[in-house]
Amino acid sequence: MMTAHPDIAQAMRAVQEAVALVEGDPLRPGYHFRPPARWMNDPNGTFYHQGYYHVFYQHNPYVADWGPMYWGHARSRDLVHWEHLPIALWPSNEAGESSCWSGWAGLDGEGQPLAIYTSVAYRETPQGREYARPFEQWAARSDGELEVWEKHPANPVLELSRDGQPGFADEWRDPFIFREGGRTFLVIGKAGPGTPLYEARDQSLTRWDYRGLMSEISSECPNFFRLGERFVYLHSPHAAVRYLVGDFSLETLRFTPEAEGVLDPGRVDGNGFYASNVAFDDRGRCILFGWIYGFAEGQEWQGCLSLPRLLTVGHDGHPRQQPVTELTALREQEVRRGPQALSEGVTELPELAGDMLELDLTLKPGPGGRCGLVVRRSAEGERGALIAWDGESLTVAEATVPFDLQGEALRLHCFLDKSLVEVFVNGGRTCISRVLKVEEQDQGVGLLCEGRGAELVELRGWRLRGVW
Ligand code: FRU
Repeated sequence: MMTAHPDIAQAMRAVQEAVALVEGDPLRPGYHFRPPARWMNDPNGTFYHQGYYHVFYQHNPYVADWGPMYWGHARSRDLVHWEHLPIALWPSNEAGESSCWSGWAGLDGEGQPLAIYTSVAYRETPQGREYARPFEQWAARSDGELEVWEKHPANPVLELSRDGQPGFADEWRDPFIFREGGRTFLVIGKAGPGTPLYEARDQSLTRWDYRGLMSEISSECPNFFRLGERFVYLHSPHAAVRYLVGDFSLETLRFTPEAEGVLDPGRVDGNGFYASNVAFDDRGRCILFGWIYGFAEGQEWQGCLSLPRLLTVGHDGHPRQQPVTELTALREQEVRRGPQALSEGVTELPELAGDMLELDLTLKPGPGGRCGLVVRRSAEGERGALIAWDGESLTVAEATVPFDLQGEALRLHCFLDKSLVEVFVNGGRTCISRVLKVEEQDQGVGLLCEGRGAELVELRGWRLRGVW
């Protein structure tokens, strides 16, 4: 029997003390996953196990700000309703560890739950905080229930130099494991060019051989995995998450990208989607998660998870992102509109006024101007968040990104959750996430037409239920 480290109970008490302070916050998402209170950043070690989707996440239980990292933990059967579980990982101060940074979780070669993460140690000096040693990669293991974790006796599993296998002196972090051709590999982010690749020496996944750089890319939070016939590399380069789709050779152990781009271009001005992770379920689906950050400060909470997205590769070799179909369970009564020609300005949709909404609409843009939606609109119309296309670019709140309709109609599939909006565009060719600056009372929704002749082909809308 494993027993939980006493620091975990203390950290969980700290989170519980803040719960009452965050309840009823009108800006806090109501159907997105988030911790009970306080800070979260990256999703870590997302994986499907015995009927549950498990999400671990970078968690600071003590303040609603980044700091010494724990791994929060939750699970869901349906990707809609979540159950908070005890904090999984804690910094082992007695071993000199100050923070448990991002990483991977899954099963080792013998079917035992294992997490591998970046162990960071600080030292306070008169000049400020500095690293007490180079980053190391540590493992933790759990019993079948995944509720109690203990640090692995083999730690560190990767360090600067081990058994003649090189590590890296500068910041290297966020290990991610993938399996291919019966072999198990680990990629890791690092400063300076290149993605290091290691191969597991045995089933324990605690002994690794260095196999060189599998790509020139360097970044935080690499996710590398097979998706159908292709390999996908997602990474977080201190800017919007990028994707590369290509091939991986088991002979050369090199990744050759063929298509690349930005996964969710909403990350500008200090808010949006970052630090992706994926889980493969029993239906073979690849479920994508990301950290949404940049909510209003001064509360006892900060950060949530993006909606779970089904990730596939389209015929054009670029990814497609779609909200998982399970999210339809959140829908209340359906509202339909269209087809109709749009009149100039904003056409109010009073039957859909609200702050937790799903809106799925198809528009035929006119020859000029812009068309789309306004959400969180004030009664007088002077405030509101715009989701619109102007012939060249899509705008979602303050983010504007080029988007070529390729001759198609414009399809906007939007999920509004209080101060967060995620917009899946034209079958998931892109998805744009933005945190909105909103006033509580602004609940209006409208269709936007500026310039000539936009037409609403169809709109389906729902108010959505909260899950917390
Ligand atoms: C990305 C990141 C990771 C790191 C973690 C620390 O947001 O910087 O690279 O492991 O956050 O919380």
